[in-house]
Amino acid sequence: MPVLNNISLKPYNTFGIDVKAKHFISINSVKELKDIYASKKYPSKFILGGGSNMLLTQDVDALVIHIDLKGKTIISQTEHDVLINCQAGENWHDFVLWTLDNNYGGLENLSLIPGNVGTSPIQNIGAYGVELKDTFYSCNALNLNTLKEDTFSNKDCKFEYRNSIFKQEAKGQYIITSVTFKLSTKNHVLHTNYGAITSELENMKIKNPTIQDVSKAVIAIRESKLPNPKEIGNSGSFFKNPVITISEFEKLQQNFPNVPHYVVSKKAIKVPAGWLIETAGFKGKSFGNYGVHKKQALVLVNYGGASGHDILKLSKLIQSTIYRIFNISIEAEVNIF
Ligand code: EPU
Repeated sequence: MPVLNNISLKPYNTFGIDVKAKHFISINSVKELKDIYASKKYPSKFILGGGSNMLLTQDVDALVIHIDLKGKTIISQTEHDVLINCQAGENWHDFVLWTLDNNYGGLENLSLIPGNVGTSPIQNIGAYGVELKDTFYSCNALNLNTLKEDTFSNKDCKFEYRNSIFKQEAKGQYIITSVTFKLSTKNHVLHTNYGAITSELENMKIKNPTIQDVSKAVIAIRESKLPNPKEIGNSGSFFKNPVITISEFEKLQQNFPNVPHYVVSKKAIKVPAGWLIETAGFKGKSFGNYGVHKKQALVLVNYGGASGHDILKLSKLIQSTIYRIFNISIEAEVNIF
């Protein structure tokens, strides 16, 4: 694909922010990617995957490289499981549906998450009791120093809640080109303990769910709570759920006895940021053409025409208000540029 100039990035980010890329290229092969990095023509580069976890606050004065690598390969199969390699530019949800069509188990709880396969390991995407790390086998990534592909095992990636080596020490040094998953081919292990899934399966009158049923339940829950980025610009959860110490939690609970929480370890407790934001009065609040989603306070929305700056300003107002009321810092989950 040729390099294009002055391209609007609106179709390439799920927030629907209309900023321009000075230069833009879609790449379809790893060779093309290596050639771009080997050439000195565009010193400044900006990698774009599915554009579902970013807030763009200004024009991008660089060569935007849209990773459009496609394809899926079955690497090996045993009696119980299968190793599948998927190229980075495949749409995440389409890939999940393909695995379910083939009756491969493991990704059903992660149905309908926006974004691409190649960006899924960066923040270890997770939903409804399952994280990417549970089925991630390895990934290939172009090392931007050597221009060779390195392989990262599950352990190498240092996965944590919404975190991995690619957000820490390896940040900016690699481009993930493909991901390999280990999925079950029979005796699938279902994760249906998450409250909303149990009740959705009951609504659907399903007693012995299949992986396909779990996916349908997750899709129904997500559609009822989370705005479809094709209709309302958004980036899913804008903030991470904060993890606080037991003593901080005890103080919080004295003032807010009903605070929902999950015990993470003997020392740490996770508090849902959505609850903090709702309790602070922001849920459903609109500021003209942007605001806080009415059904899930963790999601900031662009109703059309908002700037990245507007949304950043709102996120800062939410952060400072939460700090003032609860003495808790909440961190953005999306990447801000
Ligand atoms: N809550 C509120 N008000 C809200 C939203 C949530 O009080 O507006 C409370 C709920 O009542 C519940 C708790 O917060 O007690 C947790 O809510 P929910 O189950 O909706 O999950 P979450 O913690 O808000 C996380 C992920 C979501 C993922 C869901 C389901 C993060 C940052 N977000 O949200 O991920 O879909 O769990 O597993 O961890 C995403 O990353 O884009 C995303 C949508």
